[in-house]
Amino acid sequence: MKFGNRAIISPSLLSCDFARMADESRKVIECGADWLHLDVMDGHFVPNLTFGAPVLASLRPHVPEAYFDVHLMVSNPRDYVEPMAKVKTNMFTFHVEACAGEAEVETLCAEVRKAGMEVGVAIKPGTSAESVCAFVEKGLVDMVLVMTVEPGFGGQKFNPDAAKKAATLRAKFPDLKIQVDGGLAPSTIEIAAEAGANVIVAGSSVFGSDDWTRAIETLRAGVTKFNE
Ligand code: DX5
Ligand code: ZN
Repeated sequence: MKFGNRAIISPSLLSCDFARMADESRKVIECGADWLHLDVMDGHFVPNLTFGAPVLASLRPHVPEAYFDVHLMVSNPRDYVEPMAKVKTNMFTFHVEACAGEAEVETLCAEVRKAGMEVGVAIKPGTSAESVCAFVEKGLVDMVLVMTVEPGFGGQKFNPDAAKKAATLRAKFPDLKIQVDGGLAPSTIEIAAEAGANVIVAGSSVFGSDDWTRAIETLRAGVTKFNE
């Protein structure tokens, strides 16, 4: 399959040493990461708690040029628009399952854009690709995040059926950024890339590797193989 978007590798800091977040962020960028994937969990939308805007505000001065790819696994994403804009979030990705209906998703998309951030909408494995197509068609979103595990924890097993939703989206939207998140590794990248994903989140397979550069290069090569 050919599609217009380049490979973007976004290592998830969920698998870094949180006590060394700034150092590990700098290091992973030096090792070739395009973006930093930052998983905000509120202990309510998902059964886990990570960090929010105060931690990202502390991190920002250490990596002033980094692209902050913030994945909000929270029940009230609207409350995060202003705090995330303040820490110079680049991509604000929220879950459609956290919204009461389509009108709420559309309003939030507009608010995120107005606050100067790009808009990502995320779907859990049980949510269909079709449920976000209208938002893309209306030009409201810059990226769709297809979760390839149930959100909440790193190090879970990749779900190939969830990845197939990327193919549905890619067939309709040749230039859309399609992100996959959960269980991406050298052994699973080609399934996701062939389905049309071009933005690759990887936590444990990068931070758990003894050669981060090679891990990132392998993921990139997997995407490039299907994007010639
Ligand atoms: C899970 C998070 C992911 C997580 C992925 O809910 O959204 O970003 O860090 O971790 P791995 O790559 O280890 O599956
Ligand atoms: Zn994530």
